[in-house]
Amino acid sequence: MPYIMVGEERIFYTYHRGADPQSPAMLLVHGAGGNHQYWGFAIRHLKEAAVYALDLPGHGRSNGSGRANIADYADFLARFMDALGLVKAIVAGHSMGGAIAMTMALRHPDRVAGLVLVGTGARLRVLPAILEGTLHDFERTIAMICEYAYSPNAPEELVHQGQRQMLRVAPQVIHGDFAACNAFDVMERLGEIHCPTLIICGSEDKLTPPKYAAFLAEHIAGAELTLIEGAGHMVMMEKPDLVASAIASALARWRKR
Ligand code: COA
Repeated sequence: MPYIMVGEERIFYTYHRGADPQSPAMLLVHGAGGNHQYWGFAIRHLKEAAVYALDLPGHGRSNGSGRANIADYADFLARFMDALGLVKAIVAGHSMGGAIAMTMALRHPDRVAGLVLVGTGARLRVLPAILEGTLHDFERTIAMICEYAYSPNAPEELVHQGQRQMLRVAPQVIHGDFAACNAFDVMERLGEIHCPTLIICGSEDKLTPPKYAAFLAEHIAGAELTLIEGAGHMVMMEKPDLVASAIASALARWRKR
């Protein structure tokens, strides 16, 4: 599995070629405290796209430091694309990753061929118990985040796996991610996004509820919304096949435009 240097940071990513050499490139950007594995197998191996799933700096197998704000993560992503030689890509982001994707579309519009916004919102205020707890009571707070993040239908092993992976991330990095989310607000700027956009949300999402997804769909011109019944905030882990087929159908529609 490949690593690439982005400045001084050694960044891990997986690459899946896609069935057709003309397949569009798609970047998968995980959320706060996450890594590439939070994107279920079917999404990382979509046959309709060349898929790059990275671990952001300070997360998963990438070294380097987490960023203090979403704009810095978006600028990092543009440099990651430079390092890969990717001029333009569809940017798919979950939760904080969705905030990074929207910020890419606002700061680097010429690099973004489309957006897939999964379990996210135009403003991501964070519960004070999460913000404070990631610094002062790490293990208990991660357990609490996971209680909110998965629907009651999610298999216990899936929840435990996600929890174990979050516990391996440095508390300062996770705290920095949530602080970056808390300061994120593009409610007034969605009209400036002009690329094809798919929004996906679990019907049981408690951290970024369907109301947030509906707001995105109303304010991003031409955006399409898919609600996945019975899934929580971690919809792309809980229902990877449904998320993958929603993305594949959107890519097929976008190709005909
Ligand atoms: N899209 C649409 N509406 C949004 C929104 C979004 N992204 N973010 C907030 N709003 C709405 C809220 O629903 C609320 O509407 P209401 O007045 O009709 O109830 C209003 O805007 C103000 O909400 P908010 O800015 O979030 O402030 P708050 O002081 O009411 O609540 C929290 C703060 C932290 C309690 C709340 O944001 C929350 O429960 N967040 C979800 C939990 C969390 O921590 N998620 C992590 C995200 S990474």
